[in-house]
Amino acid sequence: MTLAVENLCAAYGEIEVLHGVNLKVEKGEIIALLGANGAGKSTTIKAIMGLVKPSAGRILLDGRDLTGQAAHLAARAGIALVPEGRKIFKKMTVEENLQVGGVVRSGAEVREQLADVYALFPRLGERRRQVGGTLSGGEQQMLAIGRALMSRPNFILMDEPSLGLAPLVVESVHQAIDRIRREMGIGGILVEQNVAVALTVAARYVMQALAEMGSAGGRGLAQPCRSPVTRQITSPTSSATRTEPSGPSVTPTGRP
Ligand SMILES: Nc1ncnc2c1ncn2[C@@H]1O[C@H](COP(=O)(O)OP(=O)(O)OP(=O)(O)O)[C@@H](O)[C@H]1O
Ligand SMILES: [Mg+2]
Repeated sequence: MTLAVENLCAAYGEIEVLHGVNLKVEKGEIIALLGANGAGKSTTIKAIMGLVKPSAGRILLDGRDLTGQAAHLAARAGIALVPEGRKIFKKMTVEENLQVGGVVRSGAEVREQLADVYALFPRLGERRRQVGGTLSGGEQQMLAIGRALMSRPNFILMDEPSLGLAPLVVESVHQAIDRIRREMGIGGILVEQNVAVALTVAARYVMQALAEMGSAGGRGLAQPCRSPVTRQITSPTSSATRTEPSGPSVTPTGRP
């Protein structure tokens, strides 16, 4: 099973922030999505999840077009989001948070999946009746990942899950991501700012460059994505190779 993003463009109002993103991930594989602040990493995964409407391009799950579909349909199709900043429900218990993640599945599936999530994160099982807001940062991150797993996804989109966590906790989050891949066979896109950290978990990476301020503001939506497929560098091990800018020149924002 393959999740593919083709020439994806998106804008907030008149400002285009994605200019033709291309990436592909297989089930059982984690790729890292790298890039500086504001490069559009969160926008990319929100667009995949159906939370931002693309202005052009396609999102394909095994060839099935999910572009512009509502988030609950993406969830039902097997895509789950671990959002930036975790966004757990602070007044709800651990178990209630997890049940929210399973709303697109049947009661029996939710019960089964709860057991799997507690097996992956025993700490969550021990604290199932504790309210989310009183969990530690690391526990909240595990809960955010667990909640995403409750929809029984084939692909999980993780937006900076290690942000703000102590190094040891980061390591346990990454071990969990590795187990999700190996034991559950799930594929994933991991947004990370730290290249070295990202590549301990991900097999390869896609780097997103910053939007060009001048052209983005001036171009508007009438001619979206005039020079797609250019502002991105993909790691050498992936099928895509480095693409040279054909439109206005662009400087990648960093390299591993
Ligand atoms: N809801 C919004 N309305 C308007 N502009 C937005 C909105 N969300 C993001 N942007 C803008 O879109 C651009 C890309 O933002 P995005 O959050 O996707 O970047 P990012 O790569 O995830 O950055 P960071 O590393 O800081 O999380 C930024 O310039 C940001 O200001
Ligand atoms: Mg972000």
